[in-house]
Amino acid sequence: MDLLEAGARQLDRVERSSRLDGVIDLVRRAVRRVIPPGPVADALHGTWLGHPLHPALTDVPVGAWVGAAVLDAVPDQEAAATALVGLGLAAAVPSAVTGYNDWAAAGREQERLGLWHGLANGTAAVAYAASLVARLRGRHAAGRTLGGLGLAAAMAGAYLGGHLAYRSGTGFNHAEPAWRRLPTSWQPVDELTALPPGRLVRRLVADVPVLVYRGPRSVHVTVEQCAHMAGPLSEGAVAVIDDEPCVVCPWHGSTYRLRDGAVRRGPATMPQPVLKVRIVDDRVEVRRP
Ligand code: FES
Repeated sequence: MDLLEAGARQLDRVERSSRLDGVIDLVRRAVRRVIPPGPVADALHGTWLGHPLHPALTDVPVGAWVGAAVLDAVPDQEAAATALVGLGLAAAVPSAVTGYNDWAAAGREQERLGLWHGLANGTAAVAYAASLVARLRGRHAAGRTLGGLGLAAAMAGAYLGGHLAYRSGTGFNHAEPAWRRLPTSWQPVDELTALPPGRLVRRLVADVPVLVYRGPRSVHVTVEQCAHMAGPLSEGAVAVIDDEPCVVCPWHGSTYRLRDGAVRRGPATMPQPVLKVRIVDDRVEVRRP
């Protein structure tokens, strides 16, 4: 237990170390040249799915390679094990593409650890490619050894991915904790006349920061922390897409429709939670639906 926590703290230190930032900048620029921000990058993030696509795709290569390792221990299953190694390699391609695309839109600290996550998984792919070649040439003992090395690297990559997702907060909905704290009963926000038209402003509702936008016909209120990585939406910009006002996050450019929080541009994959709004005697009130 202590050993695992010590390992996790070491990874926290990796996130704080700036020694490889130059390499990270080079790789990120290369990734963004191949996959520029836009509809393809958004699709690879998983905006159409409502949550990140990469973690779901990683199950296929890891599952296939674990299956190959099991079959390697069973007599006369060389052909089936070889097929699973090949399947894992094929599935590693979309997994890597979505992973690099997410990485290039992450925060600096997550990028630092993500570099090692990608390196571990790249090592796994190289070892499995060599394993596949050996197996296809009939050298199954060498194929098994290389497969073992690949599986060890893939497990290291999976551990780092788990740390990134759950400890470093890459990929979870950062608006959700604040959203859960908002009451379901009507709460005052401000006087309508105190809200500047067409501007994004920050207010507190039950001590929870919210973003308020007063449009020409209605007032929209959402959680202030961006669902992607908790960027301050009140410091963002207003954009009009399809005649509807949207907020653009100042950190990575995620764009949410203010009416319903729908993601119009990634890298966010989850909608920004919006509150119900009513105006009573010139006073704006909100509640969680
Ligand atoms: S924090 Fe990344 S887009 Fe808002």
